[in-house]
Amino acid sequence: MCGIVAYTGYKQAHPILIKGLQRLEYRGYDSAGISLLDGKVYTYKTKGKVSELESFIKNKHLKGSLGIAHTRWATHGEPNQKNAHPHFSQTKSLSIIHNGIIENYVTLKEELTARGYLFESDTDTEVLVNLIEDIRINEKVLLDEAVRIALCQVVGAYAIVILSDEHPNTLIAARKGSPLVVGIGDDEFFLASDATPIIEYTKNVVYLEDEEIAILTRGEELKITTITNQEKTPYIQKLEWNLSELEKGGYDHFMLKEIYEQPRSIRDSMRGRLNPITGNISLGGIIDYEQKLINANRIIIIACGTSWHAGLVGEYLFEDIARIPVEVEYASEFRYRNPIIGENDVIIAISQSGETADTLAAIELAKKKGATILGICNVVGSSIARVTHAGSYTHAGPEIGVASTKAFTAQVTVLTLMALRLAQIKGTIPKARFMQMLQELDRIPEKVERLLQNNGTTEIIAQKYKDVNNFLYLGRGYNFPVALEGALKLKEISYIHAEGYPAAEMKHGPIALIDENMPVVFIAPHHGIYEKVVSNIQEVKARKGKIIAIVTEGDTIVRNLADYVIEIPATEEFLIPILASIPLQKLAYHMAVLRGCNVDMPRNLAKSVTVE
Ligand code: M6R
Repeated sequence: MCGIVAYTGYKQAHPILIKGLQRLEYRGYDSAGISLLDGKVYTYKTKGKVSELESFIKNKHLKGSLGIAHTRWATHGEPNQKNAHPHFSQTKSLSIIHNGIIENYVTLKEELTARGYLFESDTDTEVLVNLIEDIRINEKVLLDEAVRIALCQVVGAYAIVILSDEHPNTLIAARKGSPLVVGIGDDEFFLASDATPIIEYTKNVVYLEDEEIAILTRGEELKITTITNQEKTPYIQKLEWNLSELEKGGYDHFMLKEIYEQPRSIRDSMRGRLNPITGNISLGGIIDYEQKLINANRIIIIACGTSWHAGLVGEYLFEDIARIPVEVEYASEFRYRNPIIGENDVIIAISQSGETADTLAAIELAKKKGATILGICNVVGSSIARVTHAGSYTHAGPEIGVASTKAFTAQVTVLTLMALRLAQIKGTIPKARFMQMLQELDRIPEKVERLLQNNGTTEIIAQKYKDVNNFLYLGRGYNFPVALEGALKLKEISYIHAEGYPAAEMKHGPIALIDENMPVVFIAPHHGIYEKVVSNIQEVKARKGKIIAIVTEGDTIVRNLADYVIEIPATEEFLIPILASIPLQKLAYHMAVLRGCNVDMPRNLAKSVTVE
C-alpha cells in the first residue's frame, strides 16, 4: 500500500527519494509525489507511476537536501493529481505525506472549514496538515508540539512525515498502526515505510512504535517521544537483508526470481532448526511456549490471503501429526465476530509482511482476551513480529512480487517444523517413523530444485488456456489449501476468474460449470485418497472438462485421463503442499505474462494491506 520515503542530510534529496519510491513500487499505488525544501517548499505530483513523476519533474527545480516523497494507494478520493501526496497546509509552510486513514476526518474538516480553512483535495491527509498548522498558529507552539496535540485528536491509523519551511534540516514523523522505519546514517537520516529504500545507505535502523513521534534533525541525535510526551531511547537494530536481494538478478520479474529462490528459501527456513541425524528440532523463538502449545485447548490460526492458505495447511499438519485441535480464521472476520477465546488458547498469526491491518487488529483483540499469541512472519522487526508474545521468522528473504510465492512455502515449512516438534514432545508418532518424516523434510529443498528444472510444461499449458475466462482448482486433504492457493495466484496476476474447491465438493454445485471450455486443475499426487481424486477426475472427464493434473513422477493412471500432467517428485503426503504449489505458481506466472499483465504489480493490489 502507500509508500513513504524521506531524507535529511548533506546529499541532494531528490535522487534518493525517487530511487526510494521505485523500491517501494512493489507495495502497489496509483499516484506519486515529492516535496523538496530549498528556501521554500517545491511540490510535484502526478497520477500514475513513479516513472511518470520522473518525467514530469525533469526540468523543474529539484535542489534541496531535505525532502519527502510518497506513492499513494487511493482510499479517500480518486487516484488523481489533486489527491496525490504530499499535501500542504493553507499557508504552504507545511508539507505532509501520510499512510493510513484518519477516521474522524469529516468532523475535523468541518471544524477547520468553520475556522476559514479551504481544502484542495478530497483527502483526510490535507485535513491533518491543516489541523497541525491551526494548532501551531493558534496555540503558539513549536511544530513537534503541534503534531503531538493534533495526533491526540486523531482517530485512526497513520504513518506521517512532515517538513516545514521554517526548519530546513528537520523532519518530524509519527506512526500508529502503519509502519515507519528510521535509517540512521552519518550526518543524515532516512525514513521509509519499510527498509527497502534504506538498505543501500545504512544498516542501522529504528522501527518506530505506535504513538511515537520522531524528530530527525541533521547533525543531531534522533529524538523520539510519545504522543503523551514521554521521552524514549531509540532502539537501533541492524538490517539483515542485502541490496542484491532487492534486485531482479537477471530474471524478467521478481515473481519468477522468487519462485526460483524456493530451494534456498525453504532451506533457510529450516537452517539451524532441523537435524535429521539426531532427530532434533529446535525453534528458538517459541521454545518457551512449547508446553503452552501442547496443553492448548486449541490453536487458532489467523491470517489473510495466501498466509491464510498456509494456515489451512497448518491445520492439517497440527491435527494429523501433533493431534492438537486447530481452527483457521480469516483475521478480518475473526476481529469483528466477538470470538470466544480463553487463556488456554494459543493464537498463531501468519503474515509475510507482518503489517497486515486485519491480522494486527485480530492479534490485539485476542491479546486483550488473554490468549497467547505467536507469530510467523517474514519481515524482521515488522509490527506483527513485535506485538506477538513470541514467534518464528520464515527467513524467505524480501518478497517483492505482489503475488506471494516463496513466503508461502516458507510459512508451510515453519508450520511443518512446529507440528513435528510438538508431535515429538507429545509422543504422537513412533520414533522410527518420526525420523523418516524428518529426513524427508530435509530432502525437500533438493526436490524443489529438481522440480524447478523441469521447465516447459507449465508454459505449454499456459499457451493453450491463456484466453479462457474461468478455471477450477480441485484438491483433497492436504491439497485442498493448495487448490485455493493455485486459484488465488491465477486470479490475482492474470485476472482470470478461478475457484478453488475441495474436489469432493464439486458435486455439490461447481460441477454445473463443467463443459468442454472449463479447464480444471487437479492436485492429484499419490497419497491416501488418491483413488477418490481419480474418481473426481473421471466425473469431470465425463462432462468433457479439460484436465490439468499435478501428479507424482511416474504416475500412469491420471496421465491416461488428463489433457496435461505436471509431475512432481514423490514425497510424504504431509509435504506435498510445498511441492505441488510450485507448478501452480509457475502456471499463473506464464498465464499472466502471455496475457500481457503486470506480473509484479497487478492492478488494484497492494503487497502489504495496511488498511482494513
Ligand atoms: O503480508 P501478509 O502475508 O499478511 O499478506 C496477506 C495477504 O494480503 C497476501 O497473502 C495476499 O493475499 C497476496 N497478494 C497473495 O499472493
